[in-house]
Amino acid sequence: MSTALARARQLLDPARLPDGIDDSHGYLDLLGPPEAAPTSSLWIMQNPVFARIYEHAWRPVFTRLFSLGGTATKKFDARLVTHLGRAGERTVLDVACGPGNYTRRLAQRLTGDGLCIGLDFSIPMVTRAVARNSGPRVAYIRGDAGRLPFPDNSIDTVCCLAALYLMPEPDEVIDELARVVSPGGEVAIFTSVRTPLTAPTVVAKLAKLGGYHVFGRDEVTDRLRNAGLVDVEQTITGQAQYVTARKPA
Ligand SMILES: C[S@@+](CC[C@H](N)C(=O)[O-])C[C@H]1O[C@@H](n2cnc3c(N)ncnc32)[C@H](O)[C@@H]1O
Repeated sequence: MSTALARARQLLDPARLPDGIDDSHGYLDLLGPPEAAPTSSLWIMQNPVFARIYEHAWRPVFTRLFSLGGTATKKFDARLVTHLGRAGERTVLDVACGPGNYTRRLAQRLTGDGLCIGLDFSIPMVTRAVARNSGPRVAYIRGDAGRLPFPDNSIDTVCCLAALYLMPEPDEVIDELARVVSPGGEVAIFTSVRTPLTAPTVVAKLAKLGGYHVFGRDEVTDRLRNAGLVDVEQTITGQAQYVTARKPA
């Protein structure tokens, strides 16, 4: 087991772990055999070909689509990554990390025992992450965002980017992000938001059919506040929203 994986193992909450953890594929597998995907969007996320093209072909196009061909989302994204990936000896958790496209970047400037953990439930995505986006301060876990395997108040920076809109129970996931973040630590979310373009019922219904949820303006921010987070800030760029929040120290 790599040093980073061993450090990630130490951060887990024993009470939230299955009996056996398979680490033979370079990541900690907390889930065992995959279950059938409940929506077509989640089915695609489990597809090895999609996992292979995601980082360099799909994600850049998708980011552009969010700002309707503009660059607002891309620019905000770059600023957020610079902030979340700032230097220091911190723990960072990248929930629903896909092929680790952010995980590795968020780890690059960490120092000392700093560690960035990517967690995702798709075998092809985590496999790709281990193969293409590993590093000395990077570790991957195959786990469920709705049941994070960490103790309360244990991670300095927690993010969930481009994933919450795919999840059938996003509120549970938001509560989990808020639960595991350390006092004084931050949570960052990038997801969909209702806009004049996505508000019409037909668009929302079509999106839902494919398993894509369009969040109401205050849905994510309210949930974070209700979970006890403060300094909740929302930035809408095109059809997407970035939300950042902090747990009181
Ligand atoms: C579109 S990718 C986002 C990857 C990366 N975070 C990014 O911003 O490009 C969405 C990821 O969410 C993962 N995912 C969806 N629901 C999940 C859940 N309940 N637990 C863990 N991962 C989940 C999928 O497997 C997929 O890899």
